[in-house]
Amino acid sequence: MPALVLLGAQWGDEGKGKATDLLGGSVDYVVRYQGGNNAGHTVVVGDQKYALHLLPSGILSPGCTPVIGNGVVVDPSVLLSELSGLNERGVDTSKLLISGNAHIITPYNVTVDKVTERFLGKRKIGTTGRGIGPTYADKINRVGIRVQDLYDESILQQKVEAALDVKNQLLTKLYNRRVISADQVVEELLGYAEQIKPYVTDTVLVLNQALEENKVVLFEGGQGTLLDIDHGTYPFVTSSNPTAGGACTGAGVGPTKISRVIGILKAYTTRVGAGPFPTELFDEDGEALRRIGGERGVTTGRDRRCGWFDAVIARYATRVNGLTDFFLTKLDVLTGWEQIPVCVAYEIDGKRVEELPYSQTDFHHAKPVYETLPGWSEDITKAKSFSDLPKNAQNYVKALEEMSGAPISAIGVGPGRDETIEINSFL
Ligand code: GDP
Ligand code: IMO
Ligand code: MG
Repeated sequence: MPALVLLGAQWGDEGKGKATDLLGGSVDYVVRYQGGNNAGHTVVVGDQKYALHLLPSGILSPGCTPVIGNGVVVDPSVLLSELSGLNERGVDTSKLLISGNAHIITPYNVTVDKVTERFLGKRKIGTTGRGIGPTYADKINRVGIRVQDLYDESILQQKVEAALDVKNQLLTKLYNRRVISADQVVEELLGYAEQIKPYVTDTVLVLNQALEENKVVLFEGGQGTLLDIDHGTYPFVTSSNPTAGGACTGAGVGPTKISRVIGILKAYTTRVGAGPFPTELFDEDGEALRRIGGERGVTTGRDRRCGWFDAVIARYATRVNGLTDFFLTKLDVLTGWEQIPVCVAYEIDGKRVEELPYSQTDFHHAKPVYETLPGWSEDITKAKSFSDLPKNAQNYVKALEEMSGAPISAIGVGPGRDETIEINSFL
């Protein structure tokens, strides 16, 4: 049963970093398979807090090999500064492996991300501005730069020139920006090449050999199911596949190898950036969730939009990912509410709808249908087992499990590694 996928079941920031770190001590490899430094994964170890963007959260577990898979987009300057930041704090990062097939986020991809958003004005996506979308667009357009290109100077020069041909026309003629010099880009990228080289390898081969040897491999998703380019709330999504299938393409491992798919599910809902969000709150409850839950973006520092738990989304995540388990996080944040509303269905143009509508227009019209569950006031942060939870908290968890369609195998009651109730073992 060696391969597990751990992914976000909502719109990101569910607590994937903490969950991955928790399992990191018992797995051999932790692999990022998509996204890039748009992710912000917080890990709290004792009194130390780490914010990881590009590196897999397994980097904090000494026995674990962290891997950046082929499906990830890598900003070399971010990579090197994240590595040196961890080294300064005494974390050994020497085991890191990076796929030579991963695509590079070039400085012009970051520029294009920013100018496109500005150009979209009110219709903007609210991206993280890290160049993620334009880098994946170049990959699909077959003008992307890959990590391996850093080691062939003449190929790199040709590819950067080809990529900039069209972009410079757009930048100067449409967006009114200055021309970007191919030579300067090449020089900057070559400046990173030697420092990155020790980590670069054929990660597909390494991971498949590890699986043959019965090693345990954990795939760590960035973002979340509803931000998936195919299955999310398009166009308000990221440009990759955080859903379970993305682990196969983004790491080069066949679906037959994956035995468990764990959805990380927050006990309420948050979203960063633009796009529909049926249970969003604009009142003091939303403000309280934001304050108590510390709902501020790890990457961009933006306030997260907050709302009640949405079971329609959770059911959808179970289906499109084939979830075998949920890890419910931040239950402690709900302590103190007398009544907690949970969205069990939508009302769309006067009709009750139980499942996520495939039509974007319908989803924009969806109004939550709430059931209200009784809350609890006792501090739950010290709870170690399910039976330590107050009855109403137990009932809230059971109700969510029933509505969401997969067993809740762990519950987060605080940000720390040990602030977790384990119900079923993941390994
Ligand atoms: P990720 O992007 O999915 O890794 O999540 P983020 O790190 O962006 O946001 C989750 C936040 O919640 C972080 O600040 C975590 O330290 C924190 N967190 C994770 N699990 C829990 C939990 O069970 N309770 C509380 N109170 N905080 C948690
Ligand atoms: P983690 O891994 C929450 C959102 C952005 C924007 C949209 C597209 O920490 O859960 P992009 O820069 O990816 O092109 O932006 O996706 N987004 C996230 N929201 N958590 C994330 O990552 C996100 N990564 C991207 O806010 O709405
Ligand atoms: Mg995050």
